Amino acid sequence: MTGIGRAHTSATSNEQRMKYGIAILLLAFIHGRSFGQEIVREYLIEKKYLNIPVEQKQDRQRVVIREGVSDSTYDVIRIAEGKPDYWVFRDVSALKGKILKLAFSRKVSGIDLIHQDDHFPGEDSLYKEVGRPQFHFSSRRGWNNDPNGLIYHKGEYHLFYQHNPYEVNWGNMHWGHAVSIDLLHWTELPDALFPDTLGTMFSGSAVTDKKNTSGFGKDALVAIYTASGKKMTQNIAYSLDGGRSFRKYAGNPVLGPDRDPKVFWYEPQKKWVLVMYNENYNAIYDSKDLKTWTYRSKVNGFYECPEFFELSIDGNPQNRKWVMYGASGTYMIGTFDGNRFIPTSGKFMYTSGSLYAAQTYNDAPDGRRIQIGWGNIDHKGMPFNQLMLFPNELTLRTTPEGVRLFCEPIREIEKLHDKKYEWKNTGIDLVNKELSQLKGDLYHGILEFELDKGLGMELHYRGEPIIYFDGNYNSFNHIPFTGEKPDIQKYRVEFLIDRSSVEAYIDKGRLFLAEGLKLTNHEGLMLEGGIKVNSFQLYTLKSIW
Ligand code: FRU
Repeated sequence: MTGIGRAHTSATSNEQRMKYGIAILLLAFIHGRSFGQEIVREYLIEKKYLNIPVEQKQDRQRVVIREGVSDSTYDVIRIAEGKPDYWVFRDVSALKGKILKLAFSRKVSGIDLIHQDDHFPGEDSLYKEVGRPQFHFSSRRGWNNDPNGLIYHKGEYHLFYQHNPYEVNWGNMHWGHAVSIDLLHWTELPDALFPDTLGTMFSGSAVTDKKNTSGFGKDALVAIYTASGKKMTQNIAYSLDGGRSFRKYAGNPVLGPDRDPKVFWYEPQKKWVLVMYNENYNAIYDSKDLKTWTYRSKVNGFYECPEFFELSIDGNPQNRKWVMYGASGTYMIGTFDGNRFIPTSGKFMYTSGSLYAAQTYNDAPDGRRIQIGWGNIDHKGMPFNQLMLFPNELTLRTTPEGVRLFCEPIREIEKLHDKKYEWKNTGIDLVNKELSQLKGDLYHGILEFELDKGLGMELHYRGEPIIYFDGNYNSFNHIPFTGEKPDIQKYRVEFLIDRSSVEAYIDKGRLFLAEGLKLTNHEGLMLEGGIKVNSFQLYTLKSIW
């Protein structure tokens, strides 16, 4: 399933909801039940988790989880009838001492298995599951897609994300939440935003309201997100406790369609700027208080999850340009006067493969532009699905063709280095002999090679080529790529290999590739091709868990 394919599904969520609605009505009819006769269970909350058994082959049924929300807010869950495929949970620790009422639309035996506990089934093997990424973030349970609300706030990097807590497929969008102090080690917290009467929680961003422009409180963490209900609307919620709990603004929604608002502070005019996706273009709005928004302009040619930020060129703060990209990562470079973005070059592409809907951090220290992308990679048979790609740092650099966006893994990767192997000025035979002795499955490599007696280079892993250069067609993994000097067929390939993913940064990140890896076979790394290995540094990596 590609990002775009899935994204189409999400764009028609109202339609989907109608379909589910019809299916449920039909079921209710078959069982001779109406919604009035739904099955209700009450739990006096004493423990941390409410554990729910899931069986993929069951239909999704409507479950109203009442916590002072209206009945029109419900989740759809494949509650098990037979043996559960996996268990999911809702963290109910904030409800201790209260009664939580669940209303089910269909009787299945798994309802009686739902229970409270301070642990969730499978917790003892958490992060040790065979398919679990070891230095990429993935959610403990359920599905994730886009990163949301990336912000450095009070010493923590927050990673909110599109989360279906109840299934390994897309649906029931909540904002999941994790925090990190080093962008490497993540602690998953309870979900931050739950569906409400305005809809499910689609993508958005977060800001720190340093000047209390919204009146929510100085330094409030304000999330600006899309609610996907009967229509798509933009809404705000704020937190005064470092993102641990959110209160939704009573005046929601604050803005109309479409979706995925990215907001940042625009210092020259002391105002907030919002860019969001709106029917095949990006719309720019501004606001003094995060509540009232004024439309300013639009830019054609983008789809979903816009990003918009300013970067120095070649590290020179006197020479800056604005970059706008959409969920696919294609970008334009230009100028911005606070109201209008004037593209001066593009669209270009810097990425291909599994990256989708990447967002960058607001307020990252030292003016760094750090990006996390959704890795649209399936994890079959696991109680979780998808992952976040490794954080990248974005820069603008001058190339013979003009200024381009570059994307490299954050330098913090070095902190995960374990053993180091190194080769210099050699052929592939010696390298392969030594590679065959290695027993890792987490790697960071930097390979500098040039074509010698052949036209190609292939890096194999688990018996398959995972990064491959074709000098005849000028391409890395089928993506056209021309080195800086056409007469010297010399390239630098930096790569990260985790259990389920490979990321490759060609020539210092002028092209970034991300792909899923099959788990099937455990052959290690191997080079192929008539190349000279000018230098190759390879590190095994420590797990972050
Ligand atoms: C992109 C996207 C967004 C939407 C979200 C829903 O992957 O389709 O446009 O807000 O996912 O999960």
